[in-house]
Amino acid sequence: MGTVNNRSPLPSGRQVILITGGAGFIGSHVVRRLVNGYPDYIIVNVDKLTYAGNLMNLADVEAAENYRFEHVDICDSAAIERLFYTYQPTGIIHLAAESHVDRSILEPLTFVQTNVMGTAVLLNAARAWQQAGNTFQRFYHISTDEVYGSLGDTGFFTESTPYDPRSPYSASKASSDHLVRAYGHTFGLPVVISNCSNNYGPYQFPEKLIPLMILNARDGKALPVYGAGANVRDWLWVVDHASAIDLIYHQGRTHETYNIGGRNEWKNIDLVRLLCKLMDDKLGRQPGETAKLITYVTDRPGHDLRYAIDCDKLTQELGWQPSIQFEEGLSRTIDWYLDQTEWVNGVRSGAYLAYYEQQYAGR
Ligand code: NAD
Ligand code: DAU
Repeated sequence: MGTVNNRSPLPSGRQVILITGGAGFIGSHVVRRLVNGYPDYIIVNVDKLTYAGNLMNLADVEAAENYRFEHVDICDSAAIERLFYTYQPTGIIHLAAESHVDRSILEPLTFVQTNVMGTAVLLNAARAWQQAGNTFQRFYHISTDEVYGSLGDTGFFTESTPYDPRSPYSASKASSDHLVRAYGHTFGLPVVISNCSNNYGPYQFPEKLIPLMILNARDGKALPVYGAGANVRDWLWVVDHASAIDLIYHQGRTHETYNIGGRNEWKNIDLVRLLCKLMDDKLGRQPGETAKLITYVTDRPGHDLRYAIDCDKLTQELGWQPSIQFEEGLSRTIDWYLDQTEWVNGVRSGAYLAYYEQQYAGR
């Protein structure tokens, strides 16, 4: 791992943002938005390229003058320190994480290592950088609504809902949130946190519900619904999450927390049925044909019943709103996965690592 850029040295006086996890699902949308929207900034994508990190997600921006990629593990404190001295960042947007709940049940320690230790390493490096007298404006930590636990049939998570994480994934994210706030409180690091609901859209690794269902439905495979399919999630178009992150990075108040959500609750089984209907239409199948693939399977251990976000603070303070309706976003997402066979085959076969070698090795 290490530097893989051959670009010229940094001009002084530019805003430089390190984006960790920029090769992942949400991170790639954030990188694309900031590279295109802020040509005066330098955007440095810091990513270990785990199974979930894929530089093909960023093929359209990798030649941009203001984009850099660093193949670095956030747990590697020496490498992170080197990045601070090389790039002299004015801020960080921290998305790198192990993100899949089912995997956290199988291998919790990987989640503790990356999500807790990795965040601590970044915080420590940012603190040292700031204490050395350098300008450092933002440590923006991207977190999840899962830290709040599970709701019953009514109510919403607000920014003051007590933490009650219930899976190794959400516990590791809650730990990292606490560390971020502690570094803000104790060392005066200019931190801000957002907690977001379930994202969907292009470039999501097909282990998560929506892309998994789309590809299985396409291929005529079983659609595995956990338990009775009664669990509820609040779905947000990933591009709208990226727009919220842009807004909070630039205008959010330091030491504050912002909830981000789609005001868009769906019971899993209803979502899967809608998806099946759209697949019937798009693939020219008989109405009801795709839904025959729905298969109820053993529930996820500790499966949280319901998440629902109250994002009024973000709307009232910063004027943020989701941009599209769920049916429209789901339809676009299905079209994208049906169209992007090269991307799909790439992530399923691990070919994205070969892409990395071809694009970056030896630079
Ligand atoms: P993802 O799994 O698609 O991507 C994670 C990225 O982090 C990958 O590029 C991976 O290579 C990188 N990474 C993992 N370990 C690393 C390490 N040790 N060092 C450097 N890079 C590493 O995740 P995502 O769904 O895009 O989620 C991004 C962030 O947003 C996470 O922090 C997640 O907790 C949070 N979040 C996700 C959702 C969601 O619905 N997906 C919702 C709310 C919050
Ligand atoms: O709420 C935000 C969180 O949303 C993020 O922090 C996580 O990183 C992200 O992975 C997501 O977590 P979920 O566990 O909610 O997402 P997932 O796509 O894994 O599952 C969505 C729902 O669908 C959940 O209730 C479990 C169910 N499910 C999932 C899969 C993969 C199924 O019924 N069948 C499946 O095959």
